[in-house]
Amino acid sequence: MADVGVSDIAIHIPIYYLSHHDLAAARNIPVEKYTVGLGNKTMAIIPNWEDTVTMAANAAWQLLNKTGTDPDEIQQMVVSTESGVDYSKPVASYVQGLLKIGTQCRVYEIKHACYGGTAGLINSIDRLSQNSSSTKKALVIMTDIARYGFESLGEPTQGAGAIALLVERGPKFFTVDTSRNGVFSKNVFDFWRPSGHSVPIVDGKYSIECYLTALEGAAQHLRSNLGLKKENLFDILDYIIYHMPYSKMAEKAHKCLVEAEYKDLDSSSRERIFEESFKNMVAPGLRGVREVGNIYTGSVYMGLMSLLEEERERVEGKKIGVFSYGSGCGAEFFICDVKPNIKNIIKRLDFIKQLDRRKKISIDHYTHIYSKQDKDVIFFSPEVQNFKDNFTRFVFKGIKDHKRQYI
Ligand code: CAA
Repeated sequence: MADVGVSDIAIHIPIYYLSHHDLAAARNIPVEKYTVGLGNKTMAIIPNWEDTVTMAANAAWQLLNKTGTDPDEIQQMVVSTESGVDYSKPVASYVQGLLKIGTQCRVYEIKHACYGGTAGLINSIDRLSQNSSSTKKALVIMTDIARYGFESLGEPTQGAGAIALLVERGPKFFTVDTSRNGVFSKNVFDFWRPSGHSVPIVDGKYSIECYLTALEGAAQHLRSNLGLKKENLFDILDYIIYHMPYSKMAEKAHKCLVEAEYKDLDSSSRERIFEESFKNMVAPGLRGVREVGNIYTGSVYMGLMSLLEEERERVEGKKIGVFSYGSGCGAEFFICDVKPNIKNIIKRLDFIKQLDRRKKISIDHYTHIYSKQDKDVIFFSPEVQNFKDNFTRFVFKGIKDHKRQYI
């Protein structure tokens, strides 16, 4: 296995959030349905001066900045999104321009619902692994606005955010032996957004079923690739991060994995294993989804940041199982082998700082923002001109002559 993997990670979370208490009150729903039934507390709301391009560029800018990476070192830049801004011109090209990435770089956008970012990451690791003399790096970005119909069942599972990962030889954070990965894909209609639709069509209950089927399939494949006979996945993993459209989904997924791995035990022993292992292996990675919501392609990587913020140096040298799921559907279960010293990465994560800087908005403000999305207007209002935020370098100015403008 080549020594290629991820050296660092950065996130961009929008400045606004809506509380699930306020949403529940407005929708006349008992708040426990959102806070206990779905397990979320607040969700990120993107202001009109941001979009998937600015979030991607803002996350990647932080990453390049904190790692001291010269944009010319980037040999491949993959941006994954399922909420892109154009049917043809990729988000990746806008980001290339904003970050001043050189022309000798392969730049493209990738889509496979929430799984696209993982496909981009695995491909980038494999690509750099093939080139033994290369000192070049790859930038993998996931950026999404999870938006559902106004007053729909999916509405409390909205969110927005972007993640950027730096992939290179001699990585400082973790490696992945991609030959062991478990995969599962199948043609299903669980969640999809036909061309021209601004929000997805979702068969909610069926989407959960498809997710769990994919988890079982990918876990089985991973187990077989690892050659596990007497041992199971719980014997070798220290933490697990599941794709999280809402935090309760991680609980459902973990229950499903415990049942599959401990088939021979009785149900009360399985319940005990579930409770203990959930608390130690899964719960430390849940803060992001509870406070930001679904960020689609970046979901598992926000889980990784949450885990690092919570567990700090305890993650050093550990094995983290990551289950990435995208509707449609495609899934991959892989293992991050964390390096023994990641103190510098932990020191400058800045995820909690970003959460703490956010401003709570009212339900009326949310309704106003929601109604303005997708409108072709110039937004460069005094509100945007006076906006100051340590984590936002690029903003969306508006659309002129069918061209998106950024500053
Ligand atoms: N107090 C406590 N809990 C309550 C409650 C109350 N008053 N009222 C309801 N609940 C519980 C329910 O028992 C249920 O819990 P379980 O799932 O453990 O049974 C939970 O709250 C949700 O309630 P419903 O079953 O009534 O669900 P819903 O009809 O409101 O829909 C949803 C939930 C399907 C997740 C919907 O929000 C949705 O469609 N979301 C978008 C799709 C999605 O996220 N799918 C997940 C898998 S697909 C995927 O992961 C890809 C992706 O990113 C989209």
